[in-house]
Amino acid sequence: MSEDPTQLNPPINLPRHVAIVMDGNGRWAKARNMPRLAGHRKGVNAVRAVVECAGETGIPNLSLFAFSSENWNRPEAEVGGLMSLFMTALTKEVDELQKVGVRLRMAGETSRFSPDLRRQMEIAEKQTAEGTRLNLNICINYGGRWDIVNACRQIVSQGIAPDKIDEKLFSQYLQVPDSGDVDLMIRSGGESRISNFFLWQDAYAELYFTPVLWPDFGKKDFLEALQWYAHRQRRFGKTGDQVQQPN
Ligand code: IPE
Ligand code: IPE
Ligand code: MG
Repeated sequence: MSEDPTQLNPPINLPRHVAIVMDGNGRWAKARNMPRLAGHRKGVNAVRAVVECAGETGIPNLSLFAFSSENWNRPEAEVGGLMSLFMTALTKEVDELQKVGVRLRMAGETSRFSPDLRRQMEIAEKQTAEGTRLNLNICINYGGRWDIVNACRQIVSQGIAPDKIDEKLFSQYLQVPDSGDVDLMIRSGGESRISNFFLWQDAYAELYFTPVLWPDFGKKDFLEALQWYAHRQRRFGKTGDQVQQPN
């Protein structure tokens, strides 16, 4: 038996696309009488841990929900603090991400961000564009409904005929289409909801909810979710007898 906690033992069938709603930063901070932003800062460590673990286990696509279309409704100071945190994290982490073969992309309506932050996002995307080990999608000012409306707008503006529009074509107009449908959606922080994350892409996702608050979420928690996923029988509408049993 391997002693390495980053290794799955026994090896299991892995999801191709994992999406995470990183929730619970505020409650983590509140429990320690700290400002909410301290929880967000600590949450960056958890991001590092899951990115490393996804790379090590061989998951090809990881999407992280960092800021929703609805999170603009938070107090101005928290939104501002989050923006600075994104800027710092992007600037600090990009070299390491490039080194380990991560391809970083932003999913969401980035036009609302400051020119500085947008520039840094572009730099990070360009610098990591050749990464082949892991597609890392940061969903920022992202909403599942926005994604669908945005796809419709593009399809209409390109004059595509209605009879040419099917699910396959439509999905190509959504954000980060090459990451494909979500196989495993993880939400930390104890809530059992999607909160407008990948609505289309989650159609057949296995949903994993854990009470662990995001700043406490580590490799062990990620591996537990992967083990749980490995035991799901994905039927896609068929009967249990028609599909192969999971490992
Ligand atoms: C998730 O943690 C991070 C963002 C939404 C940016 P929260 O800030 O929602 O933490 P809780 O849910 O208040 O504990
Ligand atoms: C979802 O968390 C958004 C992110 C993790 C970025 P929220 O904390 O905003 O979700 P609700 O409001 O509890 O549904
Ligand atoms: Mg929350």
